[in-house]
Amino acid sequence: MCGIVGYMGKENAMDIIINGLKHLEYRGYDSAGVAFVEKKKIKKIREKGKVDLLKKEIDKLKIITHSAIGHTRWATHGSPSKENTHPHSDCKNKIALVHNGIIENYLELKNLLKSKKHKFSSDTDTEVIAHLLEENLKHYPIFDSILNTINILKGSFALLFIFADYPELMIGVRKNSPLVFAEKDGDSFFSSDIIGISTYVDRAYFLEDETIVFLNKSKFSFFDFKGAEKKIPAKRIEKSSFFIEKKGFKHFMLKEIFEQPEAIRETIQDRYSIEDGTINIGIDKSLFEGIDKIKILSCGTSYHAGLIGSYFLESFGGVETSVILSSEYPYKELKEKETTLFIAISQSGETADTLKAIRKVKGKNRIIAITNVPESSITRESDNYVLTHCGPEISVAATKTFTSQVALLFLLSLQLSQQKNALNKKEIIKLLEELRKIPVQMEGVLNKSSLIEKSASKFYQKENFLYIGRWINYPVAMEGSLKLKEISYIFSEAYSGGQLKHGPISLIDEGTPLIAIAPEDRAKVKILSNIEEAKTRGAEIISIGTKGDSELLSLSDVMFSIPPVNEFLSPFLTIVYAQLFAYYIALRRGVDIDQPRNLAKSVTVE
Ligand code: AGP
Repeated sequence: MCGIVGYMGKENAMDIIINGLKHLEYRGYDSAGVAFVEKKKIKKIREKGKVDLLKKEIDKLKIITHSAIGHTRWATHGSPSKENTHPHSDCKNKIALVHNGIIENYLELKNLLKSKKHKFSSDTDTEVIAHLLEENLKHYPIFDSILNTINILKGSFALLFIFADYPELMIGVRKNSPLVFAEKDGDSFFSSDIIGISTYVDRAYFLEDETIVFLNKSKFSFFDFKGAEKKIPAKRIEKSSFFIEKKGFKHFMLKEIFEQPEAIRETIQDRYSIEDGTINIGIDKSLFEGIDKIKILSCGTSYHAGLIGSYFLESFGGVETSVILSSEYPYKELKEKETTLFIAISQSGETADTLKAIRKVKGKNRIIAITNVPESSITRESDNYVLTHCGPEISVAATKTFTSQVALLFLLSLQLSQQKNALNKKEIIKLLEELRKIPVQMEGVLNKSSLIEKSASKFYQKENFLYIGRWINYPVAMEGSLKLKEISYIFSEAYSGGQLKHGPISLIDEGTPLIAIAPEDRAKVKILSNIEEAKTRGAEIISIGTKGDSELLSLSDVMFSIPPVNEFLSPFLTIVYAQLFAYYIALRRGVDIDQPRNLAKSVTVE
């Protein structure tokens, strides 16, 4: 899950590559590098750390070139050192390439190439590709050598190649890792994600799997892995109304937390009518016909959204629903019945685990994908998809995509209910009216952010936190805990309130902070007892509950309140406090909030 960019054209390639890499830094930021050809020699500049460090070096050297490739890395094979930074080359430094993905058979290939006296200068899987191509070029012309090379590789790869001896050539290859190509007025661009080049182009070729792009000066052609030419249509790029700027916020994460009301409005608008109580999220009726089970596949935050969605699907749609981590699904030895509907949730639409899981049932079962990225791999590989309309989410920690996924699952379950006559029209209209109020109620919670900031200053030095919730707010506790771990590096764990007494309660000691998500709902009485049990043992209680709940207030050291809402909708509000709490704790601890260590936004490795 790295980001790659390529450019060939009239402008200074360095400006375009650096700008592209900055936009792709969400994919990884361990190290960054560029390569270009100068006087028939490959030149490389590589820096450990973020793209800004690479930019400094490039600015110092005042490089001007009209063709280059660049890479921002999330280390998989080999530490994030300078030697392991892309681009990588062959023994004679005649080839430079950048790679996103993983070469699964690299060890086998490396041993074979070593036996042919190839010298390796990194620990990466990527470097074998350069040497393999070098080996092929000894016997075959360039195009055949590319074909021979890529057809031996196992795993996932988006690749860009340049050649010292052919400065006007750039070759792009895509298999199981995203790659976009675009051309405008004779200038050509490659990027892992359209976001890397969208400032320069209006149309792009979203390459399908097993595609080669052969770019010679400004002429380009597409080929499959057998070498046959193919046509790919260019698509208009939808420019988002959300900007990729911080708009005065200190971090993208904070900006994105505050964008949630708007993201939900954008996601639900035009998809329902309160007047006649109908829902149409743009999926075919046939998808719900005859289904008796729903399985949701997702990871991380999207998994938590799926857990909340499962309550909607069961309660409104009346269909038994299970939520499975995509990374675990391939190990299941199941013969899925045709009557099971799959829902894949992924904000990026690129998560390798989820992609693999849906490939397992593709062609046999109906699949609906929920993503935030129109041209992502999961969107394109699913017969049916529904988009959240959040605009790009830059912060690694997902926030606005989470609440928009939940909003979409709410509508999806009401559409299912409508089709199955599970709820009556009056009940559906009532739920839609309540959903419509959520963005304004969220704004009310966001207006209290200074309260959270204040209490974060009290708790930020704690070394661990426990989160509890029950029923529909148990996944909120899990998501709140994930946010805290991700950006503050504080250890935390989330439990269903009912599970405390089955073990984790032994962790509670004088002053252990316990965050309880306990709004007014069917689980409230029970979670109050759980809070009481923890308090008796010395826990400091930070609660998120419903305004006016004096019982909860009396048990809490700090309480944040949401307005009274339908019990199914409280997660939209309780999570905002949990997100802000994690944010302000991390801010106090002075960590890199938008790009936390070891993480990447788009997880394209299994
Ligand atoms: C969220 O804050 C995390 N960065 C991560 O858990 C993420 O939700 C997970 O990797 C799944 O990503 P996806 O939604 O793009 O598939």
